[in-house]
Amino acid sequence: MRTLVYGLQYGDEGKGRVSHLLSRNHDWAVRFNGGPNAGHTVYENDIKYKLHHLPAGVVLGKKIALDTGMVIDLSILLAECEKTNTKPSDLFVSENVHIIQTKHTEADSDGSGIGTTKKGIAYVYADRALKKGVRFKDFTDCPFQRYRGLPPIQSNESALFESAQGVMLDVDYGQYPHVTSSSVFPSSLHRIEKRVGVMKAYTSRVGDGPPNYPALSWLSKKGDEYGTTTGRERKCYWLIPHEIDYALSISQPDEIVVTKLDILEGEQIRIYEENGDEKIIGSLDSYKDFLLARFPKIKYFSESPKGDMTQIT
Ligand code: IMP
Ligand code: MG
Repeated sequence: MRTLVYGLQYGDEGKGRVSHLLSRNHDWAVRFNGGPNAGHTVYENDIKYKLHHLPAGVVLGKKIALDTGMVIDLSILLAECEKTNTKPSDLFVSENVHIIQTKHTEADSDGSGIGTTKKGIAYVYADRALKKGVRFKDFTDCPFQRYRGLPPIQSNESALFESAQGVMLDVDYGQYPHVTSSSVFPSSLHRIEKRVGVMKAYTSRVGDGPPNYPALSWLSKKGDEYGTTTGRERKCYWLIPHEIDYALSISQPDEIVVTKLDILEGEQIRIYEENGDEKIIGSLDSYKDFLLARFPKIKYFSESPKGDMTQIT
């Protein structure tokens, strides 16, 4: 089985947790977009891991591929390898991956006017388009298992493809220009068999741009919404169902996982209607009923941050 885990909102939906749980049943864990702008927090055996390039399956000893489409900051990646006890020589890295250079991070050091993660992402992708990039292909000595073409996943092996960011940050389908610089979807060459979309029970956003609702700072605190990569407080809002509808319409997931419902326990839960008005849904139980009726592909609810996924039957 080839499974994709991707975000239906603005990143930080809890994909890391979902990818971690689903990776148990897969041989490979693969990243294919973005770079150290991404950040996942994963707990394994009570150890907290902050991951940026490596997919969550790394803490389970899965085979790892960093595939075409990614951009890599070598010093950050090597530090992640050390923290996760991963030998660089065990990592499979596409020769097409582009290298983030000091000039890229320097150029991005002011957030490039849209509140980026300051990792040089737009600049390295720009150099890729300008044919000025440096790739692993250009290295005479590469510390990783470098491959050409697709990752060496055998036909009898399963793979979990872990996307970074979310649909609303996709360079084409997202809220351009307040977006990242890559697609959040893998190339069709990967022949994904199952798509798992992840949505958080409310909305969070780091960086500038929509959504244009009053931010709920109590929710940032209650939800512990601070960026894994930047430490910035994420602006939080109620769920925006019409944006989820859009994300679902373009990405057609087979299953949806809703994360962090527990954070809304005890609240008078609301959503935004398309005209911007807030609508009261009520208690957590009413909210769960609302979500299941509105988004029938929901198959799991997951609790934060260490909890399991509860299957909806
Ligand atoms: P960049 O990807 O660093 O260029 O940032 C572009 C926009 O995407 C900014 O609004 C960032 O805050 C946002 N962004 C990029 N990566 C992530 C992520 O992994 N989670 C949440 N927001 C992100
Ligand atoms: Mg994140």
